[in-house]
Amino acid sequence: MIIVTGGSSGLGKFIAQSLENDNHKVIRISRRSSNFENHLNCDIRNYEDLRKTYKKIKDLGEPVFALINCAGIASMNLALTTPKNVIENIINTNLIGTIYTNQVFAPLIIRSGKGRIINFSTIAVSIALEGESVYSASKAGVECFSKVLAKELANFKITVNCIAPGPIRTNLIRGINEVQIKNILKNQIIKKEFNHQDVFDIVKLILSPDSSSLTGMVFPVGGNNGFR
Ligand SMILES: NC(=O)c1ccc[n+]([C@@H]2O[C@H](COP(=O)([O-])OP(=O)(O)OC[C@H]3O[C@@H](n4cnc5c(N)ncnc54)[C@H](OP(=O)(O)O)[C@@H]3O)[C@@H](O)[C@H]2O)c1
Repeated sequence: MIIVTGGSSGLGKFIAQSLENDNHKVIRISRRSSNFENHLNCDIRNYEDLRKTYKKIKDLGEPVFALINCAGIASMNLALTTPKNVIENIINTNLIGTIYTNQVFAPLIIRSGKGRIINFSTIAVSIALEGESVYSASKAGVECFSKVLAKELANFKITVNCIAPGPIRTNLIRGINEVQIKNILKNQIIKKEFNHQDVFDIVKLILSPDSSSLTGMVFPVGGNNGFR
């Protein structure tokens, strides 16, 4: 079984559907109800909500092999004028929510004896994208958290990696105009727009039984020319 947070929309929805097409059982998690089978409503900012969801998944009694954390939000604002509520919501969702999710669900994978955790970062971290300071800060935290977790879970045969896409056409980047998208793409080594399938190809690579040594890494989609 594979848990996909943010499985109702965008990348998470595509990844969940693609995994189901490959005959995996998938549990989708997001705040709003959906018509998907095996969808659980849960707000990843809320620890108690996550604990209740953990119990529901545990009670299914099936081994959990992977956790894919796609749930996230974004907002473009200048660093000094980002409203307080926006700062809190981005950090609470992307950073604290991802930490909570890892902490609550990783024991299910430990119980299975081996597995994979994939967290989502962004190209905005490595290129220090203007207008995305709080979003980048939240995702930089996700990258650091993931690298430390990779060390702490290595003895449990669990790999922990991040995928850091550039712009992929989902609701999340609706507010970004074409000029901004082109400018971001210039920072990729392969200077073309990638899509949902390209992201899923990296997910599949990480989930493969041959990838048990790939851990503590950040996979940029198309590579990036950033400062790190
Ligand atoms: N698309 C891009 O260009 C891009 C680039 C770099 C990185 N990323 C990262 O990739 C991930 C997926 O993004 P996307 O483009 O697929 O975004 P999206 O289409 O907006 O989907 C976001 C998903 O997260 C869920 N979500 C948001 N807040 C949540 C919460 N508090 N609790 C539970 N679920 C929550 C949403 O469902 P509900 O609203 O129903 O909760 C939705 O299913 C994000 O982490 C994003 O930062 C995306």
